[in-house]
This record gives sequence, C-alpha cells and structure tokens, in this order.
Amino acid sequence: MTGLKITEYPAVVLAEVGAPVEQFDAELAKLCEDMFETMYAAEGVGLAAPQVGLGLRLFVMDCDGIKLVAANPEIVAEEGEQVGEEGCLSVGKIGAPLKRPMRVTLRAQDMQGNWYERTAEGLAARCFHHETDHCDGTLFIDRLTPLKRDMVKKKFQKQKKWG
Ligand code: NI
Repeated sequence: MTGLKITEYPAVVLAEVGAPVEQFDAELAKLCEDMFETMYAAEGVGLAAPQVGLGLRLFVMDCDGIKLVAANPEIVAEEGEQVGEEGCLSVGKIGAPLKRPMRVTLRAQDMQGNWYERTAEGLAARCFHHETDHCDGTLFIDRLTPLKRDMVKKKFQKQKKWG
C-alpha cells in the first residue's frame, strides 16, 4: 500500500465535478486500498478522490461501523436534519457546525462495479453527504454562512503557517 498526499483547499481539483469511474479493474482496487491507508493515517472517516488530486467520482469511508467504497455516488433519498460539528482533511480538520440530513440513502457502485444502495443515519449519513459533495466539487465550507466560512479559512491559514 502507498500513502497518498492529501490535496488541500484551495486546490482547483477540489472545486471540480469529478469524471465518472468507468474501469473497475486492479488499478481501481489499488487506488481504493491506497485511499483507505491515507484516510486511516490521517485519522479521517472518509476520503474522496479529489482529496488525493484525482478528479474522479469516488470515495472510501469507514465511519460509525460502515466501511465501503463508493464509485459514482448519488444521494437518492434524504430526510430530517441534524446539526453537528464537521471538518475535512482538505481543510485542516477545522470544525464548524453544519446542518445535514439526518437520514441519507446512498446509491453507488462497489469496486467490482455492482450497484448498491445503503441507508445511514447520524454521523454516517453526514459522511455519505460530505463525501458525495466532494465528488461534485463541493466542500463543507461552501455550505457554511460567509461569516463561518471566513472563520474556518482564517484558522486554516493560521494552522498552515504555524503548524
Ligand atoms: Ni472532506
């Protein structure tokens, strides 16, 4: 396995809509393995391809007992709402409270290309939403109010300078 470099805000690839995953081969399996290793090393619960510099619709996650690979993910149902502290490996894990649906159904393909649906609640639902957003070029800070977004950006700049 190989640890990958995590792409950080404001890299352009983080703001782009990813291309669909079309090849379900050994190369994809290796990429997913490397993404899991990178995510665990960074103590994250989810990691999307744009976060390792690849403009692809793909993420891995291991959150709240749900471990999966999601290629070409879509959110097909959502209900309720939750407000919780959220952060992102591409923004220095600086947290801010953000509203997301409480219950989310994800539709995606596994590493073999088989379609599946998975419904989650709470933290795992937040993760489904956050990682699918990455595949659409959306960061959690894009969903914050301008004031909160500036606060996170400032903290991140400080962290990069002194960290
Ligand atoms: Ni993220």
